[in-house]
Amino acid sequence: MAVNLKGRSFLKLLDFTPREIYYLLDLSKQLKEAKYAGVEQKPLAGKSVALLFQKDSTRTRCAFEVGAFDLGMHPVYLGPSGSQMGKKESIEDTAKVLGRMFDGIQFRGYKQADVEDLAKYSGVPVWNGLTDEFHPTQMLADIMTIQEAKGIRNVKGLKFVYFGDSRFNMANSYMVVCAKLGMHFVGCAPKDLWPNEKLLKECQAIAKENGGSVVMTDDPKTAAIGADAIATDVWVSMGEDPAVWGQRIKDLTPYQVTMDKIKQGKEDVIFLHCLPSFHDDKTDTAKDVIKQFGGTGELEVTDEVFNSRYSHVFEEAENRLHTIKAVMLATIRG
Ligand code: CP
Ligand code: NVA
Repeated sequence: MAVNLKGRSFLKLLDFTPREIYYLLDLSKQLKEAKYAGVEQKPLAGKSVALLFQKDSTRTRCAFEVGAFDLGMHPVYLGPSGSQMGKKESIEDTAKVLGRMFDGIQFRGYKQADVEDLAKYSGVPVWNGLTDEFHPTQMLADIMTIQEAKGIRNVKGLKFVYFGDSRFNMANSYMVVCAKLGMHFVGCAPKDLWPNEKLLKECQAIAKENGGSVVMTDDPKTAAIGADAIATDVWVSMGEDPAVWGQRIKDLTPYQVTMDKIKQGKEDVIFLHCLPSFHDDKTDTAKDVIKQFGGTGELEVTDEVFNSRYSHVFEEAENRLHTIKAVMLATIRG
């Protein structure tokens, strides 16, 4: 039977089969090719989408706005201070209102339960643009970037190594997507920063079914050996208390992605990062960190790796657009 995602919400990749994930990746590729060739249609003309953001965003917001425009839709941005949601109106009531006006809703916020509730009560497709727990649209962009870099469709069997805090949205989502697609995921972090046991076990079981594996290690010296892709994420995520910086720097400095680690990977290893990234001293946060703790502002990744030929971070950022378009198109039009 053909894949049909019409009416479905996109809340976490645990809800999707490998076939459905490949369907979205194939559609992303088609949409990218059509945009490059200048032959895009406006298949969702006349429709509107609400973009709800409780946290800041560059890539996700722009991908949804430009993507909506490319597909013929009207996007309405509701920022952290721009709506009644949460303050004077519950998620449930907000969902019921927005569901009457819009054909789809993007949500970026804190609790996974909130995006699940929006989907439950709105009656229209809801897309998770990042919660503390998961970042599923980012995963499609990352896998698409791997496919393009390696010139393959099937990513089964590839070794994906993630360095850094493994309890948050990025590590959780990488574990899930690698498990679903039969990849070999290695998460590398101090034991205190490992994912919750329940999700880890669930991903290990899914990986086994699909011919892959999910393992955690605290040894940064050997984790990257034979890697096809190496990724990391910021050491302090949105919504966390900045007071944790000192401890994180202490805990995670051995897990910084350096050229030594990259060189342990395969010849064609690539470096991925969802961005924004702390790899130099050019941001306010990096300047504060340098003032308090010293250093160069290179935190989760060195500037050398970030700007090297191994780094595909800007292709990855661009692919947010094509993959998010695929998610909106597949779930609204089918
Ligand atoms: N990668 C990502 O989600 O970036 P933004 O926070 O800029 O949306
Ligand atoms: N873990 C990061 C990802 C940003 C895209 C955060 O939640 O801030």
